[in-house]
Amino acid sequence: MGKKLRIVLDVDTGTDDAVAIMAAVKHPDIELMAVCSVAGNKPIENTTENSLRVLQALGSEVPVYRGCAKPLVKSITPTRIPDHGGTMTVVDGKEFHVHPEYLNLPASGRSYEELPAPAYYVELLRNAKEPVTIVAVGPLTNLAVALIIDPSIVKNIERIVIMGGGAECANRTPVAEFNIWADPDAAQWVIHCGADILMVPLDATIKTAFTKEDAADFRALGTFCGDFCADLIDLRIDADRAINPECPDNNTAIHDALALLAAADESVLRDVRRVRCDIGLGDFAEGATLITHSKEFLTSEFTKNVSFAYSADKEAFKAELLRLFMQ
Ligand code: RIB
Ligand code: CA
Repeated sequence: MGKKLRIVLDVDTGTDDAVAIMAAVKHPDIELMAVCSVAGNKPIENTTENSLRVLQALGSEVPVYRGCAKPLVKSITPTRIPDHGGTMTVVDGKEFHVHPEYLNLPASGRSYEELPAPAYYVELLRNAKEPVTIVAVGPLTNLAVALIIDPSIVKNIERIVIMGGGAECANRTPVAEFNIWADPDAAQWVIHCGADILMVPLDATIKTAFTKEDAADFRALGTFCGDFCADLIDLRIDADRAINPECPDNNTAIHDALALLAAADESVLRDVRRVRCDIGLGDFAEGATLITHSKEFLTSEFTKNVSFAYSADKEAFKAELLRLFMQ
């Protein structure tokens, strides 16, 4: 086996983040160096504790660095407090959450590290002897703060794989995907930092959505990871049915795990194109994924800055997760 891929996973755990953490810990070709938490699906206290709970359930001592509790700018605007709208409801007194306050796992027995996540990134990347891959599956605030503190750290970033955005898909506003919408300024900063960027947007993740029948295949593994992954798929589908009773999807995309697996092996993606991408920063376009198609605007200054996955292979994704979770 060749050298392992050194990864830092930046999360807003989160049910699909939890599956990404499990896949990273179980993946034989990944060295999970650290998990950095950020506010997003839930407040920073919850996303940090949930990340610790997943690692504890796996018997993993991977350190967790607690990150930003607020986005760079948006929380200063009183009318614009990021939330993950439309991900919970109450039906007949029963609450349904796509992302529970706390994952249904024992409370963590250890705490997060002293160093805040952005400081961890600066320290790690200033002194890295080998490049590091960062897989960011929540709002990009931590990484943006680190890059603002010291832009030179980009020299030791192998690649940034982002779960976020959508060319023809959105889930938080009519034009924006949640991770990008939650901190659009941070996203614009990160995708223009000069690192090699791979975006795994909703256009790709929704093509790998799992059904309850897929969940049953994970449960059939008879392992903790298989059972917990099946539980999270069922929970997300049940929440969607309660939130959207007129038009339920009856499936759910485990967005973050696809981005994590793509970092290790891009063959799980399809139709990856090099594009010029920017992020809408205001008004109706806030958080939108803006891709420049017109060639006359693509010049030496206005360059293509990201690899953008327009699709993915559900069966390859499912097979890889089943392989990892049979342990
Ligand atoms: O839009 C999907 C993304 O938003 C996922 O990362 C999910 O965990 C939420 O953060
Ligand atoms: Ca997430």
